[in-house]
Amino acid sequence: MVSKSNAGQWARAGVLIGSSRFALTMSQSIVLFGPPGAGKGTQARAIVEATGKPQISTGDMLRAATAAGTPMGLAAKVYMEAGELVPDEVIIGLIEERLRQSDATDGVLFDGFPRTIPQAEALSEIATVGLVIAIEVPDRAIVERIVGRRMDPETGDIYHVTFNPAPPEVADRLIQRKDDNEETVLSRLAAYHSQTAPLAEWYRARDLYTPINGDQNIAAVGAEVAAAVETLR
Ligand code: AP5
Repeated sequence: MVSKSNAGQWARAGVLIGSSRFALTMSQSIVLFGPPGAGKGTQARAIVEATGKPQISTGDMLRAATAAGTPMGLAAKVYMEAGELVPDEVIIGLIEERLRQSDATDGVLFDGFPRTIPQAEALSEIATVGLVIAIEVPDRAIVERIVGRRMDPETGDIYHVTFNPAPPEVADRLIQRKDDNEETVLSRLAAYHSQTAPLAEWYRARDLYTPINGDQNIAAVGAEVAAAVETLR
């Protein structure tokens, strides 16, 4: 278990914590919700194309900070490599900063955020969520998806050795995420069930939860996701 870092450490790392809350986005945002490896990133690109809303992936933001070697990124790396959630105050600070950028004013696509009830409560104070697309995938399918995932570092494209093989011309440059191993994915799944899954009920109670059967091929999931996005128009 990674020890809880205090707010001071994160503040010194340059993360905005406890700033005043106000509506940073006026239009409706979409939340992509689901366990690790559900296919959130895979489906995000089509949603961005259909809606024009920018994708905000907290996982990508944390990996970029880690690669840049910022103090916040290096602190977050310890949690990520252990398969644990990064503390709420750090994530909420990152989101508050990101929503201040001009491209966020017409709503955004949140990918992998919120992941806890405190994150969802904080989000409800700074943005309007109009739709939660929940890609539901049973645990038995998750490990194979995660362990077989490969990423193209140049384009950000997501592949799978079996389910979505990369074209031969990019095969040599593909990378595997450090947390995409069987041991870490079990921790990530445990964190999902204990801290993130309860959010489903929270969003159901607000009539925003739209379940999608994620246990089918990528195109079939995409068709259900597209139909859900249409309901927002
Ligand atoms: P993050 O990067 O968000 O990882 P994740 O939620 O675990 O999600 P993934 O990116 O692993 O999966 P995905 O659903 O996007 O699936 P993908 O489309 O790639 O977070 C990483 C870490 O950062 C966390 O563990 C935590 O430490 C930290 N973190 C991030 N956000 C946080 C937050 N809000 N709060 C606290 N901590 C946070 O697909 C997976 C694979 O399956 C691919 O190979 C793909 O080709 C394949 N695939 C996709 N769809 C299908 C399908 N229908 N059938 C077969 N294969 C498929």
